[in-house]
Amino acid sequence: MSTPLKIEQTVAALQQAARDFAPACFANSMGAEDMVLTDLIARHHLDIEMFSLDTGRLPQETYDLMQEVRKRYSLPLKIYFPDCTLVEEFVAQNGVNGFYDSVELRKRCCHIRKVEPLKCALAGKRAWITGMRRDQAVTRGSLEVSSFDADHGMQKFNPLLEWTNAEVWEYIRQNDVPYNKLHDCFYPSIGCAPCTRSVTPGEDIRSGRWWWESAEGKECGLHLR
Ligand code: ADX
Ligand code: SF4
Repeated sequence: MSTPLKIEQTVAALQQAARDFAPACFANSMGAEDMVLTDLIARHHLDIEMFSLDTGRLPQETYDLMQEVRKRYSLPLKIYFPDCTLVEEFVAQNGVNGFYDSVELRKRCCHIRKVEPLKCALAGKRAWITGMRRDQAVTRGSLEVSSFDADHGMQKFNPLLEWTNAEVWEYIRQNDVPYNKLHDCFYPSIGCAPCTRSVTPGEDIRSGRWWWESAEGKECGLHLR
């Protein structure tokens, strides 16, 4: 499928979310895919609320990009923070970097810093939109562009599902879309600073995320099924 056709289909999915599932929102991690969606939502003036989950451990480059997005687009970016009492308890019990100690503690940290804040962000919404692509991970092979998300009780849209990494970057370059500067330093997938590292060319694009864990379980809990 050609890129213009993919863009058309992506815009159609975004329009459907805005029209048939209002109020709809877009979860923006500031990754390359999410910047394509930001640009399309702004360009087409779609009534979709955009938010980011600030875990408190994001890389400086991600904060820089949030600031750039604020200047470049008229689309407001709402930022959600974790519950400070839960973070304080976790840190008191396990230390500031306790998430390295076991997969269980890593998932607990993701739960406190991402999954719980996501629930707040989705409260009262009828659909949420993500930048997930099928070929990003073994865990994402069976996703659909639009389906009912039983975990959150609303429709979930993945409008870039069939895009390749090359198509995402073609769009970014052609439209001069701002992007996370870590992508220029061999970080294809970016999450929290302590849980993300650069990859060597040819390595799997998510191999720098929670690199000490096996590929089958590498999801933070935002996308359960
Ligand atoms: S993750 O689940 O492993 O962190 P990934 O980084 O690939 O996921 O992002 C997949 C999608 O989840 C993003 O396109 C975005 O829609 C959503 N997402 C991930 N992290 C965040 C975040 N911090 N804030 C908002 N949305 C996020
Ligand atoms: Fe915690 Fe790492 Fe998950 Fe971020 S990615 S919430 S620091 S475990």
